[in-house]
Amino acid sequence: MIKIKKRKFLLLPGDGIGPEVVGEVKKIIFWLNKNKSLDFEIDEDLAGGVSYDKHGTPITDEVFYKALESEAVILGAVGGPKWDNVEFSKKPERALLKLRKELKLFANLRPAICFEQLVEASTLKPEIVSGLDIMIVRELTGGIYFGEPRGIKPIDKGERKGINTHSYTSSEIQRVARVAFDLAKKRKNKVTSCEKSNVMEAGLLWREEVQDLHEKEFKDVKLDHMLADNCAMQLLRNPKQFDVIVTDNLFGDMLSDQASMLTGSLGLLPSASLGAKNKEGQMRAMYEPIHGSAPDIAGKGIANPIATILSFAMALRYSLDLDKEANSLEKAVQDVLNDGLRTKDIISKGKKEVSTSQMGDAIISKLQ
Ligand code: IPM
Ligand code: MG
Repeated sequence: MIKIKKRKFLLLPGDGIGPEVVGEVKKIIFWLNKNKSLDFEIDEDLAGGVSYDKHGTPITDEVFYKALESEAVILGAVGGPKWDNVEFSKKPERALLKLRKELKLFANLRPAICFEQLVEASTLKPEIVSGLDIMIVRELTGGIYFGEPRGIKPIDKGERKGINTHSYTSSEIQRVARVAFDLAKKRKNKVTSCEKSNVMEAGLLWREEVQDLHEKEFKDVKLDHMLADNCAMQLLRNPKQFDVIVTDNLFGDMLSDQASMLTGSLGLLPSASLGAKNKEGQMRAMYEPIHGSAPDIAGKGIANPIATILSFAMALRYSLDLDKEANSLEKAVQDVLNDGLRTKDIISKGKKEVSTSQMGDAIISKLQ
């Protein structure tokens, strides 16, 4: 058993814009250490395509062990067209999936909040998105992402067959549903559970297990079941009907990208991937923006660092119980937006366009 070291952060900037956005978090960590006497220990290493280029593998054992002993991993983004032809098992994304699976980070929290200052940045009408505050809880270590059997197999007459398996056990469903119910209690007390119980047995089991847990432990929370395709539609029609959405790995991947656009930009949304607490009350966790590596804008200094900075705020809240610091970091982001500073992805008329590092600096100056 590898012990978790308190307050140890592992930064894995990864590929594309990853190093730029994680660079801003690094500045914030240094600032907090210096000005708030916090004693975060940070280490930084390679994961994703950059690791493949250097070591021939998307994550080395050494880096993986560093992740195991860290209280929180902060990941930028992995992948890009450069690695399109790399063998499947060595693709940059495998680093991310290995970390999620082997650190047992089964609960992925993806908040979609529409900042009042950015209501205009959404492609939807302001009255639909204004005041939006949804939490998507995505199951992260099961379902079709990891199910066996899987692979591409030759069948007869030169035909091939691609196989993936979608499966869930009762306990996998209940442990993530429990996270959703607990979160709902601190919010608007409503959970919507999404699956395709009309076509998938695993979806039917999902519905039954969530219902069962609700009856046993969470009767005081309002629970609705919704088919995932309907949920996709309702997210555009009337997103404010939702509080907490709990769903499986694949539906959660898709619904969270969709929800992000309600808020204006993929560049704004953080996420936290959490494991179970051990006997000492410690938990493994990884924090990452929900956006990808955006190779088209990498290296230009125009990426929006807010999603990664807000992911770090989630780390302060969920891994370190530093609610006060998390709140002030989130407030600093709001203040900077109120001042009219915008990165390119969220620029609008009358606002001031700033670079990635100017955005980070402005947020730090609000922390003072
Ligand atoms: C996400 C991403 C990942 C996923 C990719 C990069 C493997 O889209 O975190 O949403 O599919 O889970
Ligand atoms: Mg995704």
